[in-house]
Amino acid sequence: MEKKRVFLTRTIHEFALKELKKYYQIEVHSGKIPIPKNKLLSKIREIEGLICFPYDLIDKELIDEAKNLKVISTYSVGFDHIDTKYAIKRKIQVGYTPEVLTDATADLAFSLILDIMRRVSEGDRIIRNGDWTEIYGANDYVGIDLQGKTLGIFGLGRIGSALAKRAKAFDMKIIYNNRKPISKNKEKTLGAKYVSFSKLITESDIISIHVPHTNKTNQLFNKNIFNKMKKTSFLINTARGKIINEKDLTEALKKKNIAGAGLDVFESEPVGKNHPITKIENVILAPHIGSSTKETRIKMARITVENLRLGLEGKNLKFSVRN
Ligand code: DGY
Repeated sequence: MEKKRVFLTRTIHEFALKELKKYYQIEVHSGKIPIPKNKLLSKIREIEGLICFPYDLIDKELIDEAKNLKVISTYSVGFDHIDTKYAIKRKIQVGYTPEVLTDATADLAFSLILDIMRRVSEGDRIIRNGDWTEIYGANDYVGIDLQGKTLGIFGLGRIGSALAKRAKAFDMKIIYNNRKPISKNKEKTLGAKYVSFSKLITESDIISIHVPHTNKTNQLFNKNIFNKMKKTSFLINTARGKIINEKDLTEALKKKNIAGAGLDVFESEPVGKNHPITKIENVILAPHIGSSTKETRIKMARITVENLRLGLEGKNLKFSVRN
């Protein structure tokens, strides 16, 4: 029997490729990342399985061409790059990789908080530029204590809750906003208090974003919000870049309308060295590495392959997007 055809929009771990090759005829895109739409369009008609990554735009046009496609397996927890509603309507299963990257992403969010508040990366730049000329001045490079500060978590799901655990250990106050409050029990365990979105914005010393990118959250954090935040507050984003209006954020940081930001995600990636955000001191930039630890990425690869296999066997996926 002929092996089913699977296409990968970029390469993945060697063990995962080996596993895929045992069962399927695979092709891996090499060249421009993300894969140009024309190339994906030319492949999609022939394949039964697709492994894709954030920034591969899987829209209606592509799905309409995908006459034989049974499953789309994305190597990510976010799936805003896929028109999941339309795929599911067309009976194409969509798999993703939640749970395994929760701790890694929460660690990264917390490290951005620590870094921007204690000015670690800034200090590194100061030394490398040869600007550390006097030692131990009473007011040199002073940061801000985390203890006692209010962390506002926007989206207390898996990653938001893991961040709350870390913040609790640092004696921070935790408030959160969600579509609806979590159970009282869970609130107690995490030490988190539900507040309205507007309270979250005005009362937090640090706001950390942990919601998906949707029509509702698109550019939600814009100058109106930055004007309402405390001037001493920080904004952290490890979710999706498009939730923030980057131009407005750059202005707010420049004018010191907010104190600083830590960003792992951007409106458009990769961010080049001439991007206006790179010219600003009070921001920490990371190259979309929320889930990027050795252990986590291996787990993500395993799930990506497992979701694909289950989908091609016509079974329920391990983690499937259901709209
Ligand atoms: C995801 O999996 O969607 C994350 O952005 C990876 O860091």
